[in-house]
Amino acid sequence: MVRAAGLVKKFGDFTAVEGISFEVRRGETFGMLGPNGAGKTSTLRMMSGLSPVTSGELGIDGIDATANPRSIRDVIGVVSQHDGLDPDISVRDNLTVYGFYFGLDRDTARRRADEVLDFFDLKTRGGDSVDDLSGGMRRRLTIARAFVSRPRLVILDEPTTGLDPGSRNRVWEQLAVLKNSGVTVVMSTHYMEEAAILCDRLVIMDEGRILGAGTPDELIQELAGAEVAQVRPEEGQRDSVQRQLQESGYETAELGAIFTVRGLNGDRADLSKVSGARISYRAANLEDVFLMLTGRDLRDE
Ligand SMILES: Nc1ncnc2c1ncn2[C@@H]1O[C@H](COP(=O)(O)OP(=O)(O)OP(=O)(O)O)[C@@H](O)[C@H]1O
Ligand SMILES: [Mg+2]
Repeated sequence: MVRAAGLVKKFGDFTAVEGISFEVRRGETFGMLGPNGAGKTSTLRMMSGLSPVTSGELGIDGIDATANPRSIRDVIGVVSQHDGLDPDISVRDNLTVYGFYFGLDRDTARRRADEVLDFFDLKTRGGDSVDDLSGGMRRRLTIARAFVSRPRLVILDEPTTGLDPGSRNRVWEQLAVLKNSGVTVVMSTHYMEEAAILCDRLVIMDEGRILGAGTPDELIQELAGAEVAQVRPEEGQRDSVQRQLQESGYETAELGAIFTVRGLNGDRADLSKVSGARISYRAANLEDVFLMLTGRDLRDE
């Protein structure tokens, strides 16, 4: 569905996307996980036909997106970081008007509006003003809107950022249903749970580059091991513990007052000889993968 090769986005002298390559298969949910400024939105805007490609190749459903940004806008649905809903018309009319924009006639646009309202559990809110919706409903409406035109590919830029955990779960449930309906989804996120739950495959981005790619499980297995050790130095023992960990030969990253230690060959790190610290083990996650790749924390909120 998507093929990017050596894709670059520059803003003046600044390079936001530094020649990335990836493929998205038909029917899969593909994620871009990375912190603020990683280049996720810049990449998604090029894929959406909203921002010109500086250089490299970008094919969307067989269309050369670098040459025909307008034609890709017809086959995709876009959910941007800012919703752009019209507060002066009803929830249903926001959807219908969006359908007109895609060339649907009035009856078809109305029918599609009702179908997506139903699907996204907003049926009873169709006559309300957009301003009367909660944050979570508003986000569902923005996602619903992208489906009015029956897109083959839906691009979602941080679909749940800023939502409370309950609303986030609702959006996740609906994205999971969509995924089962066979539509191809590309989404960005800084939430590792979101990437782990929804994405079949993902890339980890930082500073305009792709640092790792694979299924969530593959990335965790390859880059963090099944289990990581968390080492909390006792008071005054940080330097000593750091030295012992360096000598142990395991890959280690320090975040806050805790060292995260990765095992070797899928086994957990044997730290039985380390003294002056409390050691516990837990299942590795994508956060650990990011930490091992960059030495930094993924969370920035
Ligand atoms: N229109 C622009 N002009 C200049 N620089 C820009 C522009 N848009 C983005 N950038 C820069 O490009 C880099 C990547 O930004 P981008 O918005 O793609 O990141 P992101 O991964 O989406 O981050 P976030 O998680 O904060 O949304 C940032 O350093 C940003 O400041
Ligand atoms: Mg962004």
